[in-house]
Amino acid sequence: MVVASVSLHILETTATDSLACLEAWLGRRYGCRMVTLRLATADDARAIADIYAPSVTDASTSFELTPPTESEIERRMTLTASHAPWLVCATTSEVLGFAYASRHRDRAAYQWSVDASVYVSAGHQRRRVGRALYASLFALLRLQGFYTVHAGIALPNPGSVGLHEAVGFRLIGVYPAVGYKRGAWRDVGWWQLPLRERVGDPAPPLSVADARALPGWEEALVCGLHLLRP
Ligand SMILES: CC(C)(COP(=O)(O)OP(=O)(O)OC[C@H]1O[C@@H](n2cnc3c(N)ncnc32)[C@H](O)[C@@H]1OP(=O)(O)O)[C@@H](O)C(=O)NCCC(=O)NCCS
Repeated sequence: MVVASVSLHILETTATDSLACLEAWLGRRYGCRMVTLRLATADDARAIADIYAPSVTDASTSFELTPPTESEIERRMTLTASHAPWLVCATTSEVLGFAYASRHRDRAAYQWSVDASVYVSAGHQRRRVGRALYASLFALLRLQGFYTVHAGIALPNPGSVGLHEAVGFRLIGVYPAVGYKRGAWRDVGWWQLPLRERVGDPAPPLSVADARALPGWEEALVCGLHLLRP
């Protein structure tokens, strides 16, 4: 469908316009390559596992002790991706980073709250990949009807705190010494970002499948692209 729309548009415009149009559809230039923001698929599980692994093996960023395999990542994606999006920022040949949201807690009154996570490949950090992923993720979560997003950050992690505060999260509390990893008890700080003005009687959030049918979905999905630093 997308290819058909692009082709049609190209026929109606000049060559220069066509290139700009194609770029707008496909993504944004990143160095000399095109990059886009899209929903993750099972084919991304290997790259996601590779990006995530150092946060397990070489740091206390993740409280996991063993890096999940590709099939375990795929299982996690399947488990949560109908509830809230998993996004990747990727070129045609490489995943640069990923972000996703999951339930904050299972009990029904928590249904408007999610937790968010973001990981960027070591070679692509500080190029606003994190900012771009979060901008699109939060636009999609707003469209679904979620109200609040949280991030739990094992401390210290100046990069993650920097990103979350740069996009508007505020620290709401710290669980002192809540985990033990790499020879020390670790604190986890919790940051919160309201996604919309709170109202009484909120409608239940839409599933990803239902929200994908909304007219604003595609626009929200790529809205973070303009933030990328080439
Ligand atoms: C944290 C992380 C996701 C940030 O992603 P990123 O793409 O490098 O960040 P961005 O380039 O989008 O940075 C956006 C803002 O965050 C802040 N920031 C990012 N990295 C920072 C750092 N190392 N120190 C301080 N501030 C930082 C800056 O304010 C930056 O704004 P700027 O672009 O105007 O300078 C990335 O460093 C990462 O994957 N780290 C390892 C895994 C991790 O800690 N994930 C978070 C789990 S809670």
